[in-house]
Formats: sequence, structure tokens, C-alpha cells
Amino acid sequence: MQLVLERCAIRPWRLDDAESLTKHANNRKVWLGLRDLFPHPYTIDDAHEFLQKKIIGQSATIFCIEINGAAVGGIGIHPGQDVHRHTATLGYWLGAEFWGRGIMTEAVAALTDFCFENFPLRRISAEVFANNPASARVLEKAGFTFEGRLKNNVIKDGKLLDSLLYAKTR
Ligand SMILES: CC(C)(COP(=O)(O)OP(=O)(O)OC[C@H]1O[C@@H](n2cnc3c(N)ncnc32)[C@H](O)[C@@H]1OP(=O)(O)O)[C@@H](O)C(=O)NCCC(=O)NCCS
Repeated sequence: MQLVLERCAIRPWRLDDAESLTKHANNRKVWLGLRDLFPHPYTIDDAHEFLQKKIIGQSATIFCIEINGAAVGGIGIHPGQDVHRHTATLGYWLGAEFWGRGIMTEAVAALTDFCFENFPLRRISAEVFANNPASARVLEKAGFTFEGRLKNNVIKDGKLLDSLLYAKTR
């Protein structure tokens, strides 16, 4: 799978992405928008562990965002199970030096289309911490609908936050 877009490409992760992944992932501003599962500080060992899991596990739904030949971000869906097997949740991040250029809006729109075309999905949702208006804006621009505010749903960086639920259905 490879999606070549105007501002970036979306492709599978490779073992040789470790150095670039570490460089762009090791940033508190990136970590603040993500679950605590995403390490901070982000070390080269974290990158190797992630890449080995994703590549050896042959994950078909977790991808790298590439700009100018370098791995600078990640995007993927996590398929639901059981009665939620027709759904998936979406996650994404981008190296801070590339923010504000419409890159993630393009990536989210393209990956969502790809997933609806290639997997038997009827719903893709994303949950944004309420203090992350840039991510909410990305989802709105990529055609997601705001479904509601989940009160006190998250503790991030010691703060109790609401989260915002967005989804795209077909
Ligand atoms: C959220 C994130 C993916 C955005 O990526 P990006 O490539 O900069 O996004 P885009 O440039 O496509 O769009 C960002 C939009 O948010 C807007 N925006 C940025 N900061 C904002 C703010 N403080 N308040 C309101 N809007 C804001 C931008 O103006 C732009 O909208 P516009 O095109 O209408 O002007 C990136 O900041 C990131 O990786 N953050 C850390 C990880 C993260 O939060 N992931 C999402 C988890 S849900």
C-alpha cells in the first residue's frame, strides 16, 4: 500500500525508519496530543520496538507519513471487535516542524477513503482531547462529524480533560 498525495506519502513502516521516527516523535508537543502509550521521551529503542512489532506483526492498518523521503509522522486505524467489528478508531501525529501546512488534513482524508474502500467498515471515529483544537479542525476539514463531548474522559499531563468524539460513516 502506498498513497502518494500532494503534500506527503502514506506507506508501510520500514525498519530503517527508526532514526527519523525518533527525531520527530521525541517532542513533548507531539506527546501532549496522544495517549500515554506513546512514549516520552521517545528513544531509539522505542522506535526499534515499535517498528519490529508493526513490521513483524505485518500490521495492515498502521502507516508512516513520509515527506521528502523521511518518516515524519504516523497514521493508522485500529479495527473494532465483536459487535464493533464494522468500526475502527483513527489515530495520527506529525513532526512539529511540519504543522500548519495542511498535511494531516490531506493524510486523514486520503487514509479514511482508502480504509472505507479496502475494509468492510461502516464507521471510523477519532477522539480528540478538548485542548487540541488543531486536531479537531483536521477532522472537520477531512469530513468528520462532531458527535459529542465526553466529559472528564481523559487525564493527560496531570490535567482532567473532556474529549471530543468525531466520526465518519458510510
Ligand atoms: C494535530 C496535528 C496532527 C495537526 O496536523 P497539521 O498537519 O498541522 O494539520 P493541518 O495543517 O492539516 O490543519 C490544522 C488546522 O488546525 C488549525 N489550528 C492550528 N492551531 C489551532 C488552534 N490553536 N486553534 C484553532 N485552530 C488551530 C490550523 O489553522 C488548521 O486549520 P485551517 O486550515 O482551517 O487554518 C498535529 O498538530 C500533531 O501531530 N499534533 C500532535 C499529535 C496529535 O495531537 N495528534 C492527534 C490526536 S487526536
